[in-house]
Amino acid sequence: MELHVVTLHVNGRTHAVALAPNVTLLHALRDLGYTDVKSGCEKGDCGACAVLLNGTAVNSCLVLAYQADGAEIVTNAGLGTMEHPHPIQEAFADAGAAQCGYCTPGMVISAKALLDRTPHPTEDEIRNAISGNLCRCTGYGQIIEAVKIAADKLAEGQES
Ligand code: FES
Ligand code: FES
Repeated sequence: MELHVVTLHVNGRTHAVALAPNVTLLHALRDLGYTDVKSGCEKGDCGACAVLLNGTAVNSCLVLAYQADGAEIVTNAGLGTMEHPHPIQEAFADAGAAQCGYCTPGMVISAKALLDRTPHPTEDEIRNAISGNLCRCTGYGQIIEAVKIAADKLAEGQES
């Protein structure tokens, strides 16, 4: 299959990669080393592969890499690190919202997209925002709590 050069801007870094037209953004990102983007169902059902694409949360398994040519992509690792976690990541730790952690990067991305557009979400809005993210470990109580804590942390940060 003919390869095409695709330019991906990921977490502030630019990659030009030659890819077949049927390569998904999920596989392109993981092959570039962004293994915080998790591969689950690969058919849009689990949300483990969620990333921000120009600020919108998408399932990267449903996006072909060439469709993201030139776009700004942010993964969970682009939001924060172990040393400097994002308030949403801190909130997931504070609330005990991760057990195996497989769903967590996608959950954090969905939470980020929600809180960017709705800084003070209702519980229904939180449930709706993470409705495409499946977790088989925690139940959803701690995850919803984490998003509430994150909203408070972000609001405090803006006030200070
Ligand atoms: S791996 Fe993309 S939604 Fe499940
Ligand atoms: S923490 Fe294991 S799938 Fe969510």
